[in-house]
Amino acid sequence: MEDMVNLVETYKGKRIFLTGHTGFKGAWLSAMLHQLGARVKGYSLPPEHEQGLFMVLGGEGVEESVLADIRDRQRLEQEILAFAPDFIFHLAAQPLVRRSYEIPAETFDVNVTGTANVLEAATRLKKDCVMVMITTDKVYENKEKAELLYKEGDVLGGYDPYSASKACAELVVSSFRNSFFLSAAGRPVKSLASTRAGNVIGGGDWSRDRIIPDIVRSLMAGRTIDVRNPAAVRPWQHVLEPLTGYLVLGAKLQESPKVYSNAFNFGPLPEGHLPVSEVVKTAIDVWGNGDWRDASTPGAPHEAGLLKLDIQKAQEQLSWRPKLDAREAIRWTLEWYKQPLSEQRRFTFEQINHYFSL
Ligand SMILES: NC(=O)c1ccc[n+]([C@@H]2O[C@H](COP(=O)([O-])OP(=O)(O)OC[C@H]3O[C@@H](n4cnc5c(N)ncnc54)[C@H](O)[C@@H]3O)[C@@H](O)[C@H]2O)c1
Repeated sequence: MEDMVNLVETYKGKRIFLTGHTGFKGAWLSAMLHQLGARVKGYSLPPEHEQGLFMVLGGEGVEESVLADIRDRQRLEQEILAFAPDFIFHLAAQPLVRRSYEIPAETFDVNVTGTANVLEAATRLKKDCVMVMITTDKVYENKEKAELLYKEGDVLGGYDPYSASKACAELVVSSFRNSFFLSAAGRPVKSLASTRAGNVIGGGDWSRDRIIPDIVRSLMAGRTIDVRNPAAVRPWQHVLEPLTGYLVLGAKLQESPKVYSNAFNFGPLPEGHLPVSEVVKTAIDVWGNGDWRDASTPGAPHEAGLLKLDIQKAQEQLSWRPKLDAREAIRWTLEWYKQPLSEQRRFTFEQINHYFSL
């Protein structure tokens, strides 16, 4: 509850420009901001999935919804300047590793140029603004070592086009911060941080090639779950965990722009770094029935095998902490999918309120 009181103080009545509001995380963030009393303008492509959270919420939480491309620099700038936001949360992206092998150049375009477009528009804002840019845990040069938890100062890299595009987005953020923001006295204060979260799960995600939507689609159809990469270890967390982290970071940036304008990891406690097979088994257990098989194929596009995040910085500097362990995160997620369509909107807000009360 303490979180909620502080966050209401920061966000109530504030103007939030949210990119990616039609996507999985963006829709959850818009619902949270709505609960905090903020005024949200969204900017994204039209929603891809009819059953996705944005459609379930039916526009609740978003005052104005612009359906346009982040690569349309003029339009984006016009929409940002017209709204004059107090906060920008940039989530819009091509976020899928597998798809990035199909459309590599477009992935770089959306994720790198899209980020630069948001930031260039922000340079022309004539007021203070807090900016939180969402990248990913995959920005680190992956050494595939079991004992290694990546810290914010570690070397950036990226084998596949998605990961590399997000590492490039980090460089864009750092360049804009150095070149344009937090600058001379008398100018508006623009604070700018980037966030690197682990694999996020929660209700309302129907993306292709993501483990929870794959599991749910199979369980609902009574099919065996085909698991592409059962041994891959990832930092699993419920979507409300990093989103709360982004909001707490936004509040801190407003208080002390210079101190917090840098990068933050958001992930689970060490025991939340689990192989995909464990997530699948727990999901079947929570669902009550189902089975799975190893469907890994030799020659499939490369995906990281081992990825663990160090979250000490967010814990110490932001007093942020994960509240749900991996099993609870999986349970919260599957409970959402078990709701009939007519209940999912109400259930989303119930989960947000429950989470804030922990
Ligand atoms: N889901 C995860 O596990 C995870 C983990 C780490 C980081 N992330 C990051 O979080 C952010 C949100 O991811 P998500 O899981 O909600 O993805 P999503 O695919 O559900 O949503 C993506 C959003 O971006 C918008 N978008 C895509 N291309 C666009 C374009 N050209 N112009 C305007 N809008 C565009 C879509 O319309 C949608 O609103 C992304 O930046 C992603 O890289 C996600």
